[in-house]
Amino acid sequence: MLKIQTLNQISDKGLVRFPKQDYQVGQDIKNADAILVRSQKLSMENINSNLKAVARAGAGVNNIPVDSYTKEGIVVFNTPGANANAVKELVLCGLLLSSRGILQGINWVNSLSPEMDGAEMSKLIESQKKNFKGMELKGKTLGIIGLGAIGAMVADAAIQMGMKVLGYDPAISVNAAWRLANQIEKQENLTSLISRSDFVTLHLPVLESTRNLIDRKVINYFKSGAVLLNFSRDAIVDEGALLEALNNGRLSNYVTDFPSQELLKSKKAILLPHIGASTDEAEENCAIMAVDQLRNFLENGTIENSVNFPSLALEKTDSFRIAIINQNVPRMLGQILSILADKDINVLDMLNKSRNDVAYNLIDIETKPSEDTLDEIRAIEDVIKVWLI
Ligand SMILES: NC(=O)c1ccc[n+]([C@@H]2O[C@H](COP(=O)([O-])OP(=O)(O)OC[C@H]3O[C@@H](n4cnc5c(N)ncnc54)[C@H](O)[C@@H]3O)[C@@H](O)[C@H]2O)c1
Repeated sequence: MLKIQTLNQISDKGLVRFPKQDYQVGQDIKNADAILVRSQKLSMENINSNLKAVARAGAGVNNIPVDSYTKEGIVVFNTPGANANAVKELVLCGLLLSSRGILQGINWVNSLSPEMDGAEMSKLIESQKKNFKGMELKGKTLGIIGLGAIGAMVADAAIQMGMKVLGYDPAISVNAAWRLANQIEKQENLTSLISRSDFVTLHLPVLESTRNLIDRKVINYFKSGAVLLNFSRDAIVDEGALLEALNNGRLSNYVTDFPSQELLKSKKAILLPHIGASTDEAEENCAIMAVDQLRNFLENGTIENSVNFPSLALEKTDSFRIAIINQNVPRMLGQILSILADKDINVLDMLNKSRNDVAYNLIDIETKPSEDTLDEIRAIEDVIKVWLI
């Protein structure tokens, strides 16, 4: 029986994916094989010698002491992209809010008196609607900076709406590149994308290289009256330069999920309270993805979407599988294999991968190893964790 400790309310849509006959799941589980967590802050007190993995149902892992857990051989998973559709839909909303007089129109209608005579109200609305005229998105150019999970989905939706889509992503992964619609026009640099776009939307992480990426120099490349949408993080945009651009008309609107005191003073900023991923479905998707990744790890040894260990998958055969985590130092594999050879244990298949200071091995063998054999491997210097799958 595998034991899973849940440290937050995790969506049932995820939890039901643990088969009852093989898993014990709950908040009070002791000596767990894995922990499922959302936002609870973890420390060294949450771990035990049997713990092999922590899965965070969400993208960020700053509630988990990843470096310390890595030293203990604990694989930390997250669920990148599980909330991408939720963010994409809000970006579409942002495009519409910035292109039509929706907010201004709603505010004006709400200011009318409910006591007003119906015919008089209709007449007033017909005479005033010109104040809320907008433009259509069809035929306009959308520049997408960052073409990962969210950027790719925004591109697909914008293409569906008849927009021309430009993309810029100098760090794109092979998998992300495979997902991209071929109608996206790839741009070689940021400024060529910005100078050709009516709307620019940011879908990249905050890194040292992307902090204040949209600074005064870059803002000068925007078309006059362009719209900037930021559903990534506030730190990617230099707020001083942005406010200047809103004041002088270089930008007509800034739509963001990250309000600030200064932005509240600008009528051209459309501010949302960080609700990009706030949907029932996004929470469910995160839970489903976290559970599936944990099961695949505990049942097969597969690692996918870990923030501290390499991705690795070895096709499961009818054999016994040993998982070993060790420090990434020379001569480890030789020592492990020689213990197995001494016991006449036939190795059928194996895979070994490292990431920074740690390495992960899956070794498939013909006969079931004894606890003594596993203990001998555990006793090798720099071996951190050994278990039989
Ligand atoms: N508003 C919200 O509630 C909310 C929710 C989820 C994610 N986010 C934000 O959205 C961001 C994107 O999420 P995702 O799931 O698409 O991530 P992702 O990792 O799938 O994609 C990010 C992409 O940005 C690219 N990138 C990195 N540096 C770049 C640069 N200098 N210029 C252009 N592209 C660059 C990467 O190559 C990658 O393809 C996250 O980092 C997060 O900050 C916000």
